[in-house]
Order: sequence, then structure tokens, then C-alpha cells
Amino acid sequence: ANTYLTGIKPTGDFHLGNYVGAIKPALAAAEGYDTFYFIADYHALNIIKDADELRQSIRSGAATWLACGLDPERTVFYRQSSIPETFELTTILSTLTPKGLMNRAHAYKAARDRNTEAGIAELDSGINMGLYNYPVLMAADILIMEGERVPVGRDQSQHIEYTADIAGYFNHRYGDSYSFPVPKGVIDDSEASILPGTDGRKMSKSYDNHIPLFLPEKKLRKAINRIPTDSTPVEDPKDPDTSIPFQLLTHFADAEKVADVRQRLEAGGMGWGDLKKELFEAVNTELGPKRERYEELMASETELDEILDSGLERARSRARRVLGDVRAAIGID
Ligand code: TYM
Repeated sequence: ANTYLTGIKPTGDFHLGNYVGAIKPALAAAEGYDTFYFIADYHALNIIKDADELRQSIRSGAATWLACGLDPERTVFYRQSSIPETFELTTILSTLTPKGLMNRAHAYKAARDRNTEAGIAELDSGINMGLYNYPVLMAADILIMEGERVPVGRDQSQHIEYTADIAGYFNHRYGDSYSFPVPKGVIDDSEASILPGTDGRKMSKSYDNHIPLFLPEKKLRKAINRIPTDSTPVEDPKDPDTSIPFQLLTHFADAEKVADVRQRLEAGGMGWGDLKKELFEAVNTELGPKRERYEELMASETELDEILDSGLERARSRARRVLGDVRAAIGID
């Protein structure tokens, strides 16, 4: 069977975008495939430089996957940092990866653009090698497990293309001895697949526009009520397609409900407040039971660690085998 593999950076609360873009499709794939899902804690180190905060974030990330329904018997579930083979493979892949490819990476370019906008002459100012090398580490995450299908949101598609390129460089050079499977993204390409945040840009922890997945009910209601809407009067017709709460609703309510709300907005007579009530109900119905499980896991001293430890041997034995093949192929055995 194909190996499905994906990871999420634990950098604070997971949000509705992570759930819709990655967790939900990944868990659906777990029904029928060989699945490897992990907490990308070394990726988070690019952002979180406080030990306690990182520790807490890792726990929260693990609890989130489990509360959303990840079954650790079925899915190999682990922390990136528990697989030292990944970091050795990163070094190997770095020697095959053109620097120019990294120069064109979106996240790196965006950081330089921010410096341009801020009038900072040294465009690499504030950018460390962790950010620069991020795509190589991500390629190693995928290739060390021979991941073939990678369920991610559309914002990660360049990273998957890079991984395929990097696998190609290796295979071209060493393919007589060992070849990586060339991975493909499992990506919903539609415009609507990227969840907007409360300001209309992509929902993201770094824009501070996100709605955390497991907000307590009251805070969730408040967060939804704070999403900006225009001042069209209740009785007037409204355009659902430019409305952030409506876009969010399409991901949480069933098709019938979505069609009904669309019709009521377009006809006039439904206010933004009513729409937000519908959105709260839909999100809370889907996430309420998961929130309870999340809180239980976070309260337990040992349960999370035991679960993470139980996936470790399966993950490492795959990684050891692949790294062994790679070392033999390159002549370091
Ligand atoms: P990260 O942690 O930023 O995001 C985790 C997943 O959530 C998706 N996502 C979204 N989907 C829809 N709408 C949004 N607003 C939204 N925001 C985030 C992302 O596309 C992603 O799938 N580099 C990765 C983590 C990673 C990884 C890997 C993934 C590290 N190694 C190996 C796959 C395979 C990242 O930063 O995702």
C-alpha cells in the first residue's frame, strides 16, 4: 500500500485551518493506507525559542491529533525529534540540493520581502539557516519514511515539489543502488481549500488571525462574533462568496445546510449575526466532543508520552532501514 505521511509544526494552538487542510484529510486516508503522522518539533524550533513553551506546544500538538481521532494502533505516530536518521539524511540531501532552489523558496522569499518593505538594506537580516534549510529538512522527513502521498494544505505545495526534486537528484546520482519513491501531495487545489483567518488572509498562527481548534465554547462564540463583516442591513441581499464566516461554514456544515444558508443570504433577511450563529453551531458540533478528549489528554501526566513512545519503534525501524540503504548507496557504510 502507498505510505501516507504528514507533519504539523507545533507552534502554539493548532487552528481550524490545520484541521481542515491537513488533519481531516490525513485521518480519512488512515482508513485505507499505511500512515505515518508526526509532530514536526524541530521545524517549530525555527519559531519557538523558549523551552517550556516548546514543550507545551509539542504536548498540545500530540493531544490534538489524538483528540481528532488518530488511532495510534493504525497510524505510526511520532515526534520528528525522535528520529535521528532524519537529520543525517538532511545532511546528505543538502549536498545534492542546489542553493538556487532554496533561494526561490516561498517562505525565505517572503522573509526577504518583509525586510525590503521595512527598508532594511541587508535582505537576509534576521533570517537564520534553519529557515533557509527548512525545505531540505522537510524533504528528509518525507523521504526517510519513503512517504509517497503527503496530505497537506495548498500552502505546502512548493515544499512537496521540492521534495520530489530532491528525491530526483538523489535517484539520478545513486539510483542504481537505491531510489526514493518520488512523493506526491494530496492537496485540494480549489481556491476555497485554504481557510481564511479573521482578517481574510490565510488563517495562520503567524498572522494572529487564527481561531484555535479547541477554544472553550464561550471563547469560540466570541472569536466567531469578532470576525469582521460589512454593514449591509439585515434585510438586504448579501454575497456569501465574499463573506469570511460563510467560507468557514462551508467546511463545517453539511451541504444541505450550506445551500440553505447561501439561499437565505442571497435572498436578504438573514443578518451576519444569524450567519455567525450557524457557524458557531456547526463548528461546535463538530469539535465539541474532540475538545473534551483534548482536555483529558492534556490533563494526564503520562498518557501522551506512552502513546508517542508506542509508535517510536515502528517509525525508527523504517528510518534505520532507509538510511542504511542510502548510506550504502553513497559509499558511507
Ligand atoms: P504547518 O504546521 O504550517 O501546517 C500544518 C498543516 O496545516 C495546513 N494549513 C492549512 N490548510 C488550510 N487552510 C489554512 N489556513 C492552513 N494553514 C495551515 C498546512 O498546509 C499543513 O498541511 N512544513 C509543514 C510541516 C511539515 C510537514 C513535513 C508536512 C514538516 N515536515 C513533512 C508534511 C510532510 C508546515 O509548516 O505545516
